[in-house]
Amino acid sequence: MSAPTPATTTSAATAADRDWWRQAVVYQVYPRSFADSDGSGLGDLPGLTARVDHLADLGVDALWLSPFYPSPMADGGYDVSDYRDVHPQLGTLTDFDALVAAAHGRGLKVIVDIVPNHTSDEHPWFVEALASPPGSPARDRYIFRDGIGTDGPGHDGTHPPSDWVAHFGGPAWTQVPDGQWYCHLFAPQQPDLDWRHPEVRADFLTTLRFWADRGVDGYRVDVAHALAKDLSEPLRSKPDLEDDLPVDGSDPLYDRDDVHQIYREWREVFNTYDPPRTAVAEAVSHPARRALYARPSELGQAFNFDLLKADFDAAQFAEVITFCLREAAKTGSSSTWVLSNHDVVRHPTRYGLPADVDTRAWLMSEGADPVADEARGLRRARAATALMLALPGSSYLYQGEELGLPEVADLPTELLQDPTWENSGHTEKGRDGCRVPLPWTAEGPSLGFGSGPGWLPQPAGFAALSAQAQTGAAGSTLELYRSALRLRRQLQGEETFTWVSSDGPVLHFERPGGWHCVTNFGSDPAPLPEGQLVLSSAVGPVVDQLPGETTVWFTRPRPA
Ligand code: NOJ
Repeated sequence: MSAPTPATTTSAATAADRDWWRQAVVYQVYPRSFADSDGSGLGDLPGLTARVDHLADLGVDALWLSPFYPSPMADGGYDVSDYRDVHPQLGTLTDFDALVAAAHGRGLKVIVDIVPNHTSDEHPWFVEALASPPGSPARDRYIFRDGIGTDGPGHDGTHPPSDWVAHFGGPAWTQVPDGQWYCHLFAPQQPDLDWRHPEVRADFLTTLRFWADRGVDGYRVDVAHALAKDLSEPLRSKPDLEDDLPVDGSDPLYDRDDVHQIYREWREVFNTYDPPRTAVAEAVSHPARRALYARPSELGQAFNFDLLKADFDAAQFAEVITFCLREAAKTGSSSTWVLSNHDVVRHPTRYGLPADVDTRAWLMSEGADPVADEARGLRRARAATALMLALPGSSYLYQGEELGLPEVADLPTELLQDPTWENSGHTEKGRDGCRVPLPWTAEGPSLGFGSGPGWLPQPAGFAALSAQAQTGAAGSTLELYRSALRLRRQLQGEETFTWVSSDGPVLHFERPGGWHCVTNFGSDPAPLPEGQLVLSSAVGPVVDQLPGETTVWFTRPRPA
């Protein structure tokens, strides 16, 4: 590929056009649970297009669409069988174009999810690989190996080639009828690609261009840290998942140095567009290596899940914020912030549980014991969100959090679709509880999601949380998000940030222009700093004191 044209010298786009992502609020759409236009029970692209006004009125800057591509849905679409089309149940390419036009027409950018670590087992490449004999070129796009015997390689081949484990449970290898094994770090229906293969690399560049040419503004890169594996023989041992990865890039599977060459090639493609396309890495790494993915010569931005993993605790929040801002600044990127997404228990529910509860175990417990304190969880969630939205950098919101939706912890197990449930041998329920179709109206077969039942049942409590029920309702979570996002646009300036106080249960920071954010993490009221109060996460009025578990924004503080 020819050298990229630096966008800075030939770009007609303004700096604001090029840097839109730096302090954007990005709304994650999980398409099959957002809005169903045809009564199929699955959300779809026309359903989303019909609801673009909700997102524009909410005040977000961009939509990130989780996969909507053709897929057997073994992992909710993260098993892609064609990277350059739309799942027939979710719409057509024409529907996609209409969605982009509607979003752009309302000033919203569009980000699509790219899933490069693995394809679906129904992808034509894998179908061809299975139909081809061991050692054939068609198998080289994936990671096929002979098995080993109980006493090592070259024996009866009845054991997987290595001890690698899959994220959804079980070994990361599945045997095919001719005796070989293929690697899958996720479900068996998600075979891992071999990124040393030139055709694999070239094909993803084609996919990136395909969507950019259709108008998408950026990409979210799935499992961005796993593409470059050490496949030298003998395969190295790695009997655990990727927690506590080394700082020197020496893990055999995750966050290896070679992965960055891939993203430098991608950046060349991004920079052929004006404005350049943006990207955000979903990369798990040693914290000190996260910034590498966010280099301007690579993806430009990287997720961190540090706030999402923190308890509702002032000291933990303060440490995360200080650390993430410093790490993002290392490469000139901006930090990301996330409290909920399609892979985790929703944050109002997490914050309603005692801090030491392991949410995976909690989901499996009889009657979800202990019972989450929903009122407290929502109060804390509103406070945490208001704090997050005052931070410099980009905030990623997950659909339904603007309604304060809780996790649906009691879905009947026979309805669970997350591969985690089956692959863990029914020891983990997985992530369906945060993927229940959205309630749009207070009535109707699926509360306005569609004309019939949705693919997962909504609990009775969703009616009162519907967008319709909350619109215009004083103190509702939806109106809090709308107010916060509107104010954020008005107040947002330079990306600078100063702690006023980061000790004790009350965190207080200042942004340029006299924008102050104060969060009381404690249960007891705290003194209310002076200034003009412009936002409060409390449901009721804030008068003399800052209530517990509450965030306020104020401007123009009077001199002390
Ligand atoms: C991360 C995605 O967020 C998750 O939903 C998916 O199951 C895995 N990657 C595998 O693609």
